[in-house]
Amino acid sequence: MADAIRYERDADGVVVLTLDMTGSANVMNAEYHEAMGAAVARLEAERDDITGVVITSAKKTFFAGGDLNLLIRVTPENAAESLSFLEEVKTQLRRLEKLGRPVVAALNGHALGGGLEIALACHHRVVLDDPGISLGLPEVTLGLLPGGGGVTRLVRLLGVQAALPLLVEGTRLRPARALRAGIVHELASDADDLLVRAKAWIAANPEPKQPWDVPGHTVPDVRPGDPNVYAVLAAAPAVLHKKTRGAFPAPEKILAAAVEGALVDFDTALRIEARYFLELATGQVAKNMISTFWFQLNEITAGGSRPSGVDGRPVTRVAVLGAGMMGAGIAQVSAEAGIDVVLKDVSAEAAERGRAGIAAILDERVSRGRLTAEKRDAVLARISPTGEDADLAGSDLVIEAVFENRELKSTVLAAAERHALGDAVIASNTSTLPITGLATAVPDPGRFIGLHFFSPVHKMRLVEIIRGEKTSDETLARAFDYVRRIGKTPVVVNDSRGFYTSRTFGTYVTEAVTMLAEGVHPALIENVARKAGMAVGPLAVSDEVTLTLQLKIREQTLADLAEDPGAAALSESPGFRVIEELVALGRTGRSGGAGFYEYPEGGTKHLWPELVTRWTKPDAGVSEQDVRDRLLFVQSLETLRCLDENVLTSVSDANVGSVLGFGFAPWTGGTVQFVNSTGLAEFVQRADYLADTYGERFRPPASLRERAARGEPF
Ligand code: NAI
Repeated sequence: MADAIRYERDADGVVVLTLDMTGSANVMNAEYHEAMGAAVARLEAERDDITGVVITSAKKTFFAGGDLNLLIRVTPENAAESLSFLEEVKTQLRRLEKLGRPVVAALNGHALGGGLEIALACHHRVVLDDPGISLGLPEVTLGLLPGGGGVTRLVRLLGVQAALPLLVEGTRLRPARALRAGIVHELASDADDLLVRAKAWIAANPEPKQPWDVPGHTVPDVRPGDPNVYAVLAAAPAVLHKKTRGAFPAPEKILAAAVEGALVDFDTALRIEARYFLELATGQVAKNMISTFWFQLNEITAGGSRPSGVDGRPVTRVAVLGAGMMGAGIAQVSAEAGIDVVLKDVSAEAAERGRAGIAAILDERVSRGRLTAEKRDAVLARISPTGEDADLAGSDLVIEAVFENRELKSTVLAAAERHALGDAVIASNTSTLPITGLATAVPDPGRFIGLHFFSPVHKMRLVEIIRGEKTSDETLARAFDYVRRIGKTPVVVNDSRGFYTSRTFGTYVTEAVTMLAEGVHPALIENVARKAGMAVGPLAVSDEVTLTLQLKIREQTLADLAEDPGAAALSESPGFRVIEELVALGRTGRSGGAGFYEYPEGGTKHLWPELVTRWTKPDAGVSEQDVRDRLLFVQSLETLRCLDENVLTSVSDANVGSVLGFGFAPWTGGTVQFVNSTGLAEFVQRADYLADTYGERFRPPASLRERAARGEPF
């Protein structure tokens, strides 16, 4: 414990505090609190012999932030204890910045959350100029706010308007951007330079004060009495609400803490911040988000669903078949991860068009200063477009992304398999065709697997890995490692129609069109979905994937499942008659220029007014609460069926896959956590009501009833 923060004073009187806590990362816990308390007390005692202080870290990361193991246990019952801990942590930092000696943060790695909060309490910040380092206050992504002084100091440093987007979006900045944003003051070329610069600043600034401790300081853009300020602040909640639709408490509390804090003195602002923090930390939404986006996500990235003990040889050369939207995206993210790519389409020209599309995306990044021209050129140089199968030679991973047509896929997969390495992993990016069936295209189905990417590939973080009946552990391990290598999050599922994500998301869209057919107003459906926290309204997303594709998937499903009782229900779903009618009118979706929405040229899209005249019934009798629950419950129930059927094998995959894959309301922590946080018994009761009122699809599975009876959350 004693060395959690090393205290070393050099001949010039500069004390270097090196954070080196037990474990792999520095976090804000009892060990930190004790060590920082001791360090600050010693600095105060030895002040006369000290010329300045440098804070740095012995870990790869400067400081990782709050200790989420502690934060998830904060409850209304122990809130007072947590508040006093937080206040002490803040008081220590306050004493540090009022030491009367220059204090410099020498940031040698990521400074996120609590890490940046410590840095903001220093008079000067130097960061290693390494694009792999990020700085920011991402607490909002876990349903929290920066409660260690982060809101208060960032607002006073940058002004409310510049600080808010960073706080509300949890933006992570690379060093160069942090410098431009005014969050850090200097970049250093290496670890030595970091210390040299820190000490040079100390020598040149013997008596610095934080801007907020200079008498007369005001928040840059909030000068009491300035009418313009009030105009901006008055609009801020509305602007925010447009984004969050009221479904996320953290951004709202951040706004409140920032604005209320800006109007009072520094120490009062800290107190306001701490209280809002506690309100969030004790609430259910933070628990949901911490559990899924921290603990479960970590479980996934640590390989929870990867076969253990299997050596996954790293991929060196990927063959991507089809240079369309998906194929080009897969080629891009692979090349960005340093993997050589052969991009094949029907002709060299078609493949070259795919590469040109990638070049356009990268050029845009170069023009925004997010990528250097050299890096762009290096990525493009790794991608070889071709129209010839022979060029696939030497590939150890093949990913097929041609049109969604079983025969075509079989043909191109078989040809690629013959040219790739003898033990290559062969994958399909199909979004609907069962993997076990496609695997028959190649001689060894053990090497066959599904790698389901999401569109746009370069932005979407999830890849759904589908294990066919015969897929080997080694194939799964190699596919899993590839997905990690390209920086994406892999969830692993067993084969099923629509796998997990498409199958579950399909229920959301189908439920919406069913309600439309029942006479529910389309605007109510879309607005309630957004208010419930869904990323996109179901009718809007229908237009994106095209209504024709939905009909095609349904036809294929009906043909494949002729014997299945589920098929009968599907063919009778009144929602599909709505889709058929729209398609018959030529309204096929966004790409066709019209669907549930109108897409006026140069204007913003809006719901097609005739939806109302054709289908809406004023006496449809579906309350707003029912609309909301139907949209959310239907997805959670389908997820539970996927767990029962062993399509999903872990709750983490279910939760993380639902939010990252299809935009299930992030505040819930995912489709299964939504059941937990509703309360199992309450969920069952409500689902039974929905089943009695709207149809058997809402009937909770027996496994859930049993779990509820045992009182055992997932
Ligand atoms: P796309 O139509 O943009 O691209 C398909 C490409 O395959 C075209 O460039 C076409 O020239 C090429 N192609 C056709 N025959 C070929 C052959 N014999 N050899 C090589 N290339 C050939 O389609 P998109 O959207 O990229 O979809 C591709 C696959 O990805 C489909 O299976 C689709 O279901 C799946 N998928 C699509 C998603 C989406 O959001 N669009 C999401 C997830 C998966």
